Amino acid sequence: MNVLSSLKAKVKTLLKLHGDTYHEPDARDKYLETIELSYLYSMFNLFNRVQKVPGHIVEVGVGAGRNAIVLGKLLKFTSQHSNAKYFGFDTFESYTKLDLKENDGLSSTRWKDNSIEFVKNRIDNHGLNKICEFIVGDIRRSLPEFIKESHARHGGDSLYCRLVYIDTSSYTPSKVSLEALYELVVPGGIIAIDQRKQGGEWKALVEFCEEAGCKLVAGDNYNDVPAYILKE
Ligand SMILES: C[S@@+](CC[C@H](N)C(=O)[O-])C[C@H]1O[C@@H](n2cnc3c(N)ncnc32)[C@H](O)[C@@H]1O
Repeated sequence: MNVLSSLKAKVKTLLKLHGDTYHEPDARDKYLETIELSYLYSMFNLFNRVQKVPGHIVEVGVGAGRNAIVLGKLLKFTSQHSNAKYFGFDTFESYTKLDLKENDGLSSTRWKDNSIEFVKNRIDNHGLNKICEFIVGDIRRSLPEFIKESHARHGGDSLYCRLVYIDTSSYTPSKVSLEALYELVVPGGIIAIDQRKQGGEWKALVEFCEEAGCKLVAGDNYNDVPAYILKE
């Protein structure tokens, strides 16, 4: 008997002792056991706030592509994918040496298994390859270069954003992103920071708000992004 079966057997015995019965999760709803519903609710709310605002979605720090799938699907689901895309920036091999040196407590192995091939494959499986585009490299360079190239190719008004989601867990990449992307966010658009316990995103956000004179707004619910800037 493996560990899980033996634990289940113990739970069943305990419940029986207390006159209760163990119910297996309904097979049709099994995904509900693994999905982070509160996180999804928070993402849906964030998208809802900018649903009627024009512009693209940019995520800085893609990880395994979870938000690319959620936000790409939301663009498709709301039939906005012919005008708006999701752009995701990451090294696709975890933090850079500089980030590890700059920010205490980051792990060099935490995000290393999310290669660009792995993430693109997930995106293909969800039918989102025409909606989600990925830019590989250190954000310090890849983001300003991408903005410059995009402006050169399509003119200065090519990369306006309704939502910028910053999730790098590190100070300089977050600060660089805020500085490069704020002016591209349309009025009514949002820059959200997903900082939990680690990294310097929070410091970057507070500093940036002081410098740019913008106001931080707190999320309403548990698991909401801790704060965001609503561009007026
Ligand atoms: C917390 S994870 C992102 C998780 C993802 N947003 C999600 O919700 O599933 C942080 C990501 O930022 C990336 N990252 C951190 N510093 C970076 C840098 N300087 N350049 C590019 N990517 C970076 C890491 O590779 C990692 O994948």
